[in-house]
Amino acid sequence: MQSIYVLMDSKLIAPSMLAADFANLQQDIEMVNQSEADWFHLDVMDGVFVPNISFGMPVIKAMAKHTKKTLDVHLMIVDPDRYINTFSDLGADVLTVHYEACTHLHRTIQAIKHAGMKAGVALNPHTPINVLEAIVHDIDLVCIMSVNPGFGGQSFIENTYNKVSELKNLIDQKEAKTLIEIDGGVNSDNAKKLVDAGADVLVAGSFVFKSENPTTTIKELKQVIA
Ligand code: DX5
Ligand code: ZN
Repeated sequence: MQSIYVLMDSKLIAPSMLAADFANLQQDIEMVNQSEADWFHLDVMDGVFVPNISFGMPVIKAMAKHTKKTLDVHLMIVDPDRYINTFSDLGADVLTVHYEACTHLHRTIQAIKHAGMKAGVALNPHTPINVLEAIVHDIDLVCIMSVNPGFGGQSFIENTYNKVSELKNLIDQKEAKTLIEIDGGVNSDNAKKLVDAGADVLVAGSFVFKSENPTTTIKELKQVIA
């Protein structure tokens, strides 16, 4: 585990393990450990909030025995409050919930922090940035979904650049320290433009794991955004 703020000056790459080989998870975890990647991005889907089910607690517990970098857990589940302490116990460093899944977002964020984790809030592509106006200074990370959540390998939504700029302005205006993360369809063609617009953390699943040499792909992504 490492503090997310230690690396705030550099831009981060978080490979999404959703695109890893689930039959050889340890091998793919070691690849990320030894690569220039900064975080592990873990996508938890419940089949209700999103039309897909990924992996849950037992798998994350097994993965956490091998991961040597920040665990960035993205919950695509309804009523995430039920599991905040569970994910803390599993070793999550950053716990991201969806704005659209939280009735009392402020309470949820406080509970995540109280459990010792950094608090993230994800916004679906249709959700405007301004819904975070009253709360952005309380959030450690905002994850802008650049695809509709639920599946890896989808195409990047171009309007994301506008949302990143708008969020960056809001964060500056509020003098907040919130990190901006982009999730979905990230590749070497859009990475630089996203960072230029204000992104701090880029999640990349398929682009990394479906490439011929994932270690080199991560290195190249880091170079593009350096
Ligand atoms: C989508 C997930 C993403 C996904 C990204 O619901 O939140 O993290 O794994 O995968 P790619 O990079 O393949 O779009
Ligand atoms: Zn994700």
